[in-house]
Amino acid sequence: MSSTADTTSSQQDLWMRALDTMPGGISHPNRRKNGDPVYIRRAKGSRMWDVEGNEYIDYSMGSASLLLGHAHPDVVKAIQEQAPHGTYTASCHALEVEWAGMVQELMPSAERVRFVASGSESTLLAARVARAYTGMAKIVRFQNHYNGWSDITITGSEAPYDEAPGAGVVPGAAESIIVLPTDPTKVEETLKSNDDIAAVMLEASGANWGSVPLPANFLQEIRDLTDKYGVVLIFDEVITGFRWSPGGVQGLTGIVPDMTCMAKIVTGGNPGGALGGKADIMEVLNPRTTTHAERKVVHKGTFNGAPLVAAPAVATLKIVKTGEPHKHADAIAEKIREGIRAILEERQVPGAAYGESSTFHIHFGNTPSRDSVEGLTPEEIRGIPSSTVLAYQQALLERGINNMSHLGGITSSAHTDEDVEITLRAIEGTIEQLMSDGVIGRG
Ligand SMILES: Cc1ncc(COP(=O)(O)O)c(C=O)c1O
Repeated sequence: MSSTADTTSSQQDLWMRALDTMPGGISHPNRRKNGDPVYIRRAKGSRMWDVEGNEYIDYSMGSASLLLGHAHPDVVKAIQEQAPHGTYTASCHALEVEWAGMVQELMPSAERVRFVASGSESTLLAARVARAYTGMAKIVRFQNHYNGWSDITITGSEAPYDEAPGAGVVPGAAESIIVLPTDPTKVEETLKSNDDIAAVMLEASGANWGSVPLPANFLQEIRDLTDKYGVVLIFDEVITGFRWSPGGVQGLTGIVPDMTCMAKIVTGGNPGGALGGKADIMEVLNPRTTTHAERKVVHKGTFNGAPLVAAPAVATLKIVKTGEPHKHADAIAEKIREGIRAILEERQVPGAAYGESSTFHIHFGNTPSRDSVEGLTPEEIRGIPSSTVLAYQQALLERGINNMSHLGGITSSAHTDEDVEITLRAIEGTIEQLMSDGVIGRG
């Protein structure tokens, strides 16, 4: 693919300078695949261009934060109109009121909204609010579910589930969480035998935006169990919120949690996030509260609800509200899933393409069918060697396709049928390359 280069530095120059200025040369571990990173200069719709002018079809979509594609005109206009009014004043402002009202309207559990600065802050705050409200200490979470990188949410996000997956986590942080498999019987046993549980928190899609799907009826069973044992139910809808439907998973299923963690689309793909919840629970965040005076939560944050984020957020949510972007993005994802299944089938490569909403996931290995990983353990699904994952990602990138993470992608309302065609040919070439390199095999 081609475009004009519009920069003065080559990627190699940038990479060398990055290695001298940032640990490992990067700001986020997922931004480097097998080769040197590409440096993106600009993005529009479904496409991105690196500093040397190479074009990519993007299936990361700002780590799933964009449903409308890159640089949607309404979103860009909102930022441009807001910026001259001052980039930040740390005051109350009209846009945050409008923004909170839109979140309240779209997200069923969000009777009240508190803005934060990231998805990790929203899960951290949700846990604190739940503890303050219930007076209990522990948070139940689930194996492989990623709820942000804070000390209390990182443990359990990958195996072994009872240890922090890296150094520097405060000793004892893991004592305040219980990490379980997605098994309702185990959840009930845990809620029954522990009287110090504040909340159950989970990715509403299943782990890693649905790469490990939840068992059928799991959400309803957990809703029933948390009601039965008087425990707060927190949906982490950082990815699913405003994507699975205008009201996220809860809007789609009618299963409404007590609190919801949001980021990514809620900010129109800009830095920030939000916590929504039942009015009575969120009252612990009211600094003047009289009803919960003894449970008052201290929560600050310089950039909470920043107008430069509120403006594009409101512009985005106005379009999200119509439900139209979802129809298109979901249909594109389904075409990609179907195309991948045909490619796997034709080459007799064991594996499946699956996923909900505007997502697609690939699994390489034996599966019960071409469209499901049902019956596989989370370890089998997530256990594909990282060398295979990186080889796949790199081979795709070299063919002009940027995927999200692991073996999956995220679509938007800006993707086209032409994108699908090009993408499937690139996936076909990638799979052939991985087969000839012996990275994956025939069944
Ligand atoms: C489900 C989920 N929760 C929480 C987070 C953390 O959000 P952030 O990266 O904005 O801190 C993420 C990030 O990808 C996520 O996918």
